[in-house]
Amino acid sequence: MKTVFETIKDRLPITEVLSSYITLVPNGPQYKAKCPFHNERTPSFYISPERNLYYCFGCGAKGDIFTFVEQFEGLDKKGALKVLAERAGVTLTGYSSNNSDDDGIYQALEKATLIYQNLLKDNKEALNYLEKRGLSKETISDFRIGYAPNEWRTIENVCKDTKEKALALKAGLTKSVEDPSSKQTKVYDRFRSRIMFPICDSSSRVIAFSGRIFPQSDDGPKYLNSPETEVFQKSKTLFGFDKAKIHIKKHNFVILVEGQMDLVFSHQAGFKNTVATSGTAVSAESAKDPFSNLSIVSRLTSNIFLAFDGDEAGQKAMDRAALVALSLGMNPKVVVLPSGLDPADYILANGPEAWKERLKEAKHFIDHHLDIIKAQSSSPHAFVKNIKQKLFPFLAKVLSPMERNIYINKIAKEIEMPAETIDQELKQSFVDLPKDDMVISVNKNKDLSAYERLIALRQRFGGESIEKISEELNTVSIGGLVFSAPAVDEDRLSKALIVVEQEYGNLKKEDQEKVAKELVESVLQEFLSSMRVSYMKELKQAEVGGNEEEVSRITTILNEIIKSRHERNNSA
Ligand code: CTP
Ligand code: MN
Repeated sequence: MKTVFETIKDRLPITEVLSSYITLVPNGPQYKAKCPFHNERTPSFYISPERNLYYCFGCGAKGDIFTFVEQFEGLDKKGALKVLAERAGVTLTGYSSNNSDDDGIYQALEKATLIYQNLLKDNKEALNYLEKRGLSKETISDFRIGYAPNEWRTIENVCKDTKEKALALKAGLTKSVEDPSSKQTKVYDRFRSRIMFPICDSSSRVIAFSGRIFPQSDDGPKYLNSPETEVFQKSKTLFGFDKAKIHIKKHNFVILVEGQMDLVFSHQAGFKNTVATSGTAVSAESAKDPFSNLSIVSRLTSNIFLAFDGDEAGQKAMDRAALVALSLGMNPKVVVLPSGLDPADYILANGPEAWKERLKEAKHFIDHHLDIIKAQSSSPHAFVKNIKQKLFPFLAKVLSPMERNIYINKIAKEIEMPAETIDQELKQSFVDLPKDDMVISVNKNKDLSAYERLIALRQRFGGESIEKISEELNTVSIGGLVFSAPAVDEDRLSKALIVVEQEYGNLKKEDQEKVAKELVESVLQEFLSSMRVSYMKELKQAEVGGNEEEVSRITTILNEIIKSRHERNNSA
């Protein structure tokens, strides 16, 4: 019987899956693309439809549709399986490769989600509140919004046994606290008296929660988020990403907001390409981590609209996000809202059309920042100083040197100074400005040895005739030594298979045989020349040591080598 992986692969050709994420260009029997896993200008990412595999000559990324989705979306194996199974229309019920704790945590979170959803249905006040705030029934059910009542053991009580209790604890649903007086540990629900927003991974599995206090109370923070767990890493998650991803790709831009409510309203207003930082985190390290939340988004689009609260906390969070976006080579724009309003308030008060207008008017982050700094500076001197202090740190992150120059020229105009001066200042303050991205090209396959090519050719296009040609390798014997095959590591072989398919895939069988002959010849030539080098060394040693017997033995072998090389050259 076929495994579920095989069934999915049969239904989803690699080109279909990958082309929904990246642009593929036909290239002989294969396709190529700009690698989504490293920065490059010229494509070095190859896809072989026949072998259902991809390989990148730039960074070495390789695999099939499952590893691709895993890497691209920042998922684990099962998450990728879930995404592709849904796409292929394959049911996974009953499929469970192992009953690891991970599975248990996901199950605990799923169960809690259902419980909270049901509890919201029973809670007229919370439902009224959400409705009054303008959330539709559909939105509430789409986002699986729920309610955690003001009780200590809602979750604890539905856990069947100690195993389930341990999993609820691991999932961050409950917490364990030691009573200082009795020294006894007590376990109780983390989320109480809160409207619950499930946070999902890219495959829509619930991995955490963000809970908004309701009814209003000063007891505890307004929003409470799950702690980091085995399945929830804040820097790798964005609220709403699972719902937004296809829309981000389709519209080629993403809207980044701060709050749960902002996100839910933006989606409800029809802007489904919105994600939120809340309950998650965008940090400086995100720029370097290929699986960080914004890295994942940047593979879908480079256009990002930052729509944060106008208050100080909101602006700080926006600056952080802008810094990461710039480092990722993205193009961040700032959505300006009337003071005191966040996107949720704004959309609710003014409707989707007005929200669209705000997006249209968004300026590039650097331009926006320059305007603000200008308005805030009381003198030309202060303006220059502020540019250095407040704008340079962002400018230094702009990935493309050309783009950086555009802004340097703009600043030069504003402060009436030569662009060179500003460029120098910037370079002095930030010594490690990003360099032009490396250009990696594929025709640098010379590092593959003839032997590696031959092995790949045999594997890929083998057959009786090519095997026969390869046997020639065993016929050469010099001084009793025969050609022995060097080990080829798996990575080199993957690479060689792509190269061979690319270069020899369109050839007729007889031409492939010719190639095989040439490769065998090169392998033997390489073998003979390396033998010659090593016997020459031995000969020298024997001569120095005065070992005449040895000298004559080696000389014979060397003559054999020379003769053999000569014969091969003549017959070739
Ligand atoms: N936030 C948080 N912890 C808090 C306060 C806020 O994590 N103690 C996050 C929440 O995700 C929240 C966002 O920051 O959505 C913005 O906070 P705030 O503006 O205070 O909340 P609102 O979005 O206005 O919340 P609501 O509309 O529900 O009143
Ligand atoms: Mn807000």
